[in-house]
Amino acid sequence: MVRSKIKITGVKARFYDLLVNLATGFKYGKLVKDTAAKMNITEGVSLIDLGGGTGKNAKLFARSAGNSGRIVLVDIGKTMLKKAGRRLKKYKNSEVVQADILKPLKLNGFDMVFIGFIMHGFEIQERSALMKNVSKLLKRGGHLFILDYNQFDMKKLNPIAGYLFNHFECELATEFIKWDMERFLRSYKLGKFEKWYWHDKKIRLLRAEKL
Ligand SMILES: C[S@@+](CC[C@H](N)C(=O)[O-])C[C@H]1O[C@@H](n2cnc3c(N)ncnc32)[C@H](O)[C@@H]1O
Repeated sequence: MVRSKIKITGVKARFYDLLVNLATGFKYGKLVKDTAAKMNITEGVSLIDLGGGTGKNAKLFARSAGNSGRIVLVDIGKTMLKKAGRRLKKYKNSEVVQADILKPLKLNGFDMVFIGFIMHGFEIQERSALMKNVSKLLKRGGHLFILDYNQFDMKKLNPIAGYLFNHFECELATEFIKWDMERFLRSYKLGKFEKWYWHDKKIRLLRAEKL
């Protein structure tokens, strides 16, 4: 099993949205919509989407934040960014930035940080580098949202879900589902957690406040 599959390039990047739709039985669009609804993004919110991919989430964020809001999508992948740029073109409150989210970003003062399906593909020291960035990016009282796998027991997955997880996911993801993320986040002065679940509690949106 490959250790990480989080850098998405080539054919996978070109057909990313289609591949995700196929892997999730075309349920991904609904998850993205539900997530944006739970985040309660209001007019004027500033939000940075780290590893924002093709901009599916960011488009909904940009719609809710309105003209006085600011949405920044950061990604390392050229093809992913190109797709995001096209998707966000008509939203003047949004911008796309090519950068490595594990290195310091010269940005700060955001109300919200969103990280969707990224954490599970990083090594622990990379997750730490990412959280150092999040601490600088967020305002005090601002919210970090992490949409990713919840903790669950692989052995309890039905055979189809087990096959899909093993086929599409990496070794790091199998470690991630056993990992106590809240404990880790507390060490970065993030707390007051709130959580929402989908797909039989296998997917979780976690909100943490910068204390
Ligand atoms: C699994 S996709 C998730 C995309 C999007 N967040 C979503 O939920 O649909 C992972 C994304 O992270 C980006 N990525 C991986 N490593 C990165 C890094 N070090 N810096 C910035 N982006 C990164 C990839 O290019 C890819 O677009």
